[in-house]
Amino acid sequence: MAAFKELVFSGVQPTGNLHLGNYLGAITKFVTLQESHDCIYCVVDLHAITVPQEPLTLTNNIREVTAAFIASGIDPKKHIIFNQSQVPEHAELAWVLNCTARLGWLNRMTQFKEKAGKDRENVSVGLYAYPTLMAADILVYRATHVPVGEDQKQHLELARDIAQKFNNDFADSIASHGFGEEFFPSPEPLIQGPATRVMSLRDGNKKMSKSDPSDYSRINLTDDADAIATKVRKAKTDPEPLPSEEKGLETRPEADNLVGIYAALSETTKAAVLAEFGSAQFSTFKSALVDLSVAKLGPIGGEMKRLVADHSYIDSVLADGSERASVLARRTMNSVKDVLGFIRR
Ligand code: AMP
Ligand code: TRP
Repeated sequence: MAAFKELVFSGVQPTGNLHLGNYLGAITKFVTLQESHDCIYCVVDLHAITVPQEPLTLTNNIREVTAAFIASGIDPKKHIIFNQSQVPEHAELAWVLNCTARLGWLNRMTQFKEKAGKDRENVSVGLYAYPTLMAADILVYRATHVPVGEDQKQHLELARDIAQKFNNDFADSIASHGFGEEFFPSPEPLIQGPATRVMSLRDGNKKMSKSDPSDYSRINLTDDADAIATKVRKAKTDPEPLPSEEKGLETRPEADNLVGIYAALSETTKAAVLAEFGSAQFSTFKSALVDLSVAKLGPIGGEMKRLVADHSYIDSVLADGSERASVLARRTMNSVKDVLGFIRR
């Protein structure tokens, strides 16, 4: 395999209600990876409009995700934070990849099936093509590593299939232009740890989600200490005390979820949490979870609120990040055009 420089890319949609699942499944990973890799973190506003958005709300949500990245500890000077729509090469490469991806591949995407539901005739074409834009986001930087939550695994596999098909379809042209054997890397998903799929606090079989109508189902990053305490105390549980070993969580989705959240927030494992809390009642465990959640999330929520109010700072971070991202994206897109046989300026 050709050697690609290691580069991290990931995206978060500006669709409001950033929650603990986004934080533990994705954003904390983004923060850690800064130490070992060059990282590009994108507010994917083009993905957001695959379902209807109110323009003023969308603007606020773009700033909120940006603020969450910074408040969580991502350094926008050392790495890149930007919003997708400021770098048109994402959409440009997505079109090319729409011509690489096969209809049958997209037909298998479970997220589309879930989001479209019964009203499939009436959803946007963009919602269907969403995964090829996601592949373009990654491949336009030739990124090699992609930290995401479990729900994005299938989309990452598709991105790898698209990269490979492009490399095969244009193998001769790629070689004759001196790009070696592989033009795009196969981006590797990074899905690890005890909270890759944080579940709803109201139903341990449902994913914690921005769009759940019940605010009690999730802890929002901007929730204050009182809200966090109320939501954790009201979280659904079963009547048994906590088990001492992980096996005892297998048939208890709500207990499993809370233990996973505790493990992720305290940067340990579920086994270690159960070693401490095994045979404790939920009332005891929930009190500890409230304290931990407030200690970890409180400062981030506070800093987010402060940053979101400073429009000129946030917008300047996005402008600066977009400029630096554009240089990289333009370089790939020019090469893609050469490979395809397009004439360019
Ligand atoms: P989204 O809000 O859909 O743009 O998701 C942003 C990131 O958060 C993606 O990497 C998702 O996989 C991750 N994510 C979203 N919901 C959850 C969840 N309930 N548990 C873990 N990760 C999640
Ligand atoms: N689809 C991802 C989500 O909903 C967001 C996303 C868009 C993304 N483009 C990406 C994630 C590229 C990783 C890499 O969570």
